[in-house]
Amino acid sequence: MKGFIFDLDGVICSTDEYHYEAWKVLAKKLGVSFSRMDNNRQRGVSRMESLEVLLEKSEKLFTEDEKVTLADYKNKIYQSLLNNMGEKDLSYEVKDTLDRLREKGYKLAIGSSSRNAKIILEKIGLDNYFDAVSDGNNITKSKPDPEVFIKAAEYMNIPCEQCYVVEDAKSGVEAAIAGGFKTIAVGDAIKYKIAEYNLNSFQELLKIV
Ligand code: G6P
Ligand code: MG
Repeated sequence: MKGFIFDLDGVICSTDEYHYEAWKVLAKKLGVSFSRMDNNRQRGVSRMESLEVLLEKSEKLFTEDEKVTLADYKNKIYQSLLNNMGEKDLSYEVKDTLDRLREKGYKLAIGSSSRNAKIILEKIGLDNYFDAVSDGNNITKSKPDPEVFIKAAEYMNIPCEQCYVVEDAKSGVEAAIAGGFKTIAVGDAIKYKIAEYNLNSFQELLKIV
């Protein structure tokens, strides 16, 4: 194995919680219920698809233009939460594990559906750290389609089957399986037991390699 492709939100840092907070504000404004379970279904999928999950509970129908306005509203709230982030939001465990994988000779990439990935990487001090960043800005289909990971592997010049994908989203593990990657689940994704490895902590990656 030559490379690692990491999801960002909920794997490298806890921005998945900010997504949850921001969607909750929108749900309240629309008067629809919104739970952690709903939020777990938004993991890994694009902003507009995440909005559709939230709108399943709404009796009102929205036009495409109105949906764009709602997604923009959520993104503004999300970005204001990101504003408070800094290097403190990158844990020692994650940074140390990444450094050790690199020392072992692995190439490291990000594979995220987010269009905010670059802002987040800057905030936590990891801009220019990864060998490649594939995110919501360079894909046409989000997870569970494997496109974002295939692009990340291409950018690193490594065949998909020689890369591990690390994911906290069910849709992300499914994407990695579809793309022929070796799959590692952390966080919410471990309960589905569909990944090859299901880890209780990020540093357990070092036990695999
Ligand atoms: C990640 C998150 C999703 C989010 C998507 C788009 O995949 O897991 O919950 O909907 O990115 O994020 P964005 O920052 O572009 O709204
Ligand atoms: Mg994630």
